[in-house]
Amino acid sequence: MADTDFHALYSLAGRTALVTGASRGIGAAIARILGQMGADVAINHLADAAAAAQVADDLRARGRRAAVFDVDVARRDVAAALVAPAVAELGPIDVLVVSAARSVYATLEEARDEDIDAQIETNFKATVRLLNAVVPAMAQRGFGRVVTIGSIVQEAPLPVLPIYGAMKAAHLALIRAEAVRWAARGVTFNNVSPGLIRTERNAWRRAPGGDWDAFARSCSFAGRAGEPEEVACAVAMFCAPGASFVTGENLFVAGGAQIPGRRSAPGGSGGD
Ligand SMILES: NC(=O)c1ccc[n+]([C@@H]2O[C@H](COP(=O)([O-])OP(=O)(O)OC[C@H]3O[C@@H](n4cnc5c(N)ncnc54)[C@H](OP(=O)(O)O)[C@@H]3O)[C@@H](O)[C@H]2O)c1
Repeated sequence: MADTDFHALYSLAGRTALVTGASRGIGAAIARILGQMGADVAINHLADAAAAAQVADDLRARGRRAAVFDVDVARRDVAAALVAPAVAELGPIDVLVVSAARSVYATLEEARDEDIDAQIETNFKATVRLLNAVVPAMAQRGFGRVVTIGSIVQEAPLPVLPIYGAMKAAHLALIRAEAVRWAARGVTFNNVSPGLIRTERNAWRRAPGGDWDAFARSCSFAGRAGEPEEVACAVAMFCAPGASFVTGENLFVAGGAQIPGRRSAPGGSGGD
């Protein structure tokens, strides 16, 4: 690598990123950190226009270009409905981060057909369509960064999230196949798998009478939930130009929750 300047290794100046599910939570933190790295950002979301506008305003305040696209990623025509307008407004997509996802709590025998379909469409088929819409053009330009957001449930399954977990695992297999296909063309594919992260997705556990504190303590060796910015930091690393030889990886951001072992309190005997 000719330029070993630290800032150049992490700079996305002059690049354009598309982040799905970027109005809140992990996606919003990712949009903000990519903006701090210099990227202009296309912010995709579903319904919360005010939250998406806030993320865009924050990016513009930093001198970035930002545009908001309220498009359901599960649409079959997501290429035409989301990618084409984003390219028209901000330019070719150099960085794609797939963060939007749907989870429906139900055991397998209780899962309704429509919820199974919705999770397959949103969490897997949408990614296939988005990859087809952006990756060939990335390869033509010789630069691309794709990061998908997985989940700790790929490694530590929850019986109430069987379809969601299966789609996250399938997602990883998909991007590893693409990593192999495009490695020689400058496009990298990696997956970041969060453990429990404090977002609106799990706000119901913090409602009065909820089990948040105990649940969060039990979910990692860190004894707490993570914050969206802690996930965004790992995504930023994969998106950095300097990470050009890192592809096909999965990185847990989970306070060690992926490590098999007993979660006794640090310093505790654990019963031995
Ligand atoms: N939070 C966790 O503990 C955790 C753990 C493991 C993995 N993850 C993964 O991390 C990612 C982000 O989760 P999060 O907790 O940050 O979620 P969140 O706070 O619930 O935010 C969801 C975001 O996705 C958007 N969205 C939802 N459905 C969409 C759709 N069909 N099309 C387009 N946008 C859609 C929402 O838009 P609106 O605001 O407009 O509705 C919002 O911006 C997901 O892939 C999730 O599976 C999260």
